[in-house]
Amino acid sequence: MMLKVEGVSKSFRSGNRKLTVLKDANFVMNAGQTCAVIGPSGSGKTTLLGICAGLDRPTTGRVWMEDILLNDRSEDELARLRNDLTGFVFQTFRLIPSLTAQENVMVPAELRGSADARNRARALLAEVGLEDRTHHYPAQLSGGEQQRVAIARAFINKPRIIFADEPTGNLDEETGAHILDLLFDLNRNEGTTLMLVTHDHELTRRVQRIVKLKNGQITNPQT
Ligand SMILES: Nc1ncnc2c1ncn2[C@@H]1O[C@H](COP(=O)(O)OP(=O)(O)O)[C@@H](O)[C@H]1O
Ligand SMILES: [Mg+2]
Repeated sequence: MMLKVEGVSKSFRSGNRKLTVLKDANFVMNAGQTCAVIGPSGSGKTTLLGICAGLDRPTTGRVWMEDILLNDRSEDELARLRNDLTGFVFQTFRLIPSLTAQENVMVPAELRGSADARNRARALLAEVGLEDRTHHYPAQLSGGEQQRVAIARAFINKPRIIFADEPTGNLDEETGAHILDLLFDLNRNEGTTLMLVTHDHELTRRVQRIVKLKNGQITNPQT
């Protein structure tokens, strides 16, 4: 078992009204599985992904990553668990503008005190086809190149699970297809569990599981 979500809800307070954006979500993902979260804009996809990744906490319910109950963990412990077990790829890349491609990729490994961060970063950049862009800054890279840097960064600590929130949302079709191939290759070659939010219907044929969200509710519960 890689991820377990049990009775997870999320509410926000707006003025004196309570807005529930995720209602009683339940599912399990096994190690090495691929899963797509789909649903209309505002249906709670990003909220669900953030809670699964330990970036955000549920209002009610429990989340386990491997056998670790995230609810019990402090903010510092969650940050360490995220860095050790997960990688996150965002729609807007979120690279650090003042660092080169190679330095961006090194960050999670350096946080862990890894001695060979530089060599690993260089090898990963070569794997995503950017061996000749290692000293470029994000502003000097195209969107597709920036997202490849973000994927290399997400993989540097050999995560057990990758979360990707509309990773191709800001890319043209061809570049987006290449980014998805990279994520699925890494899933196949490294056994990395993959949970991604997508609008791409093509993609739903490539994953083993689909979680459909509508108004914060999963409309195709696991049986
Ligand atoms: N921090 C927040 N405060 C208040 N409302 C939020 C917050 N984050 C998300 N929401 C609301 O939760 C709903 C689901 O958002 P989100 O998970 O981003 O949806 P999706 O990713 O499917 O588009 C939206 O109505 C959004 O406005
Ligand atoms: Mg979203």
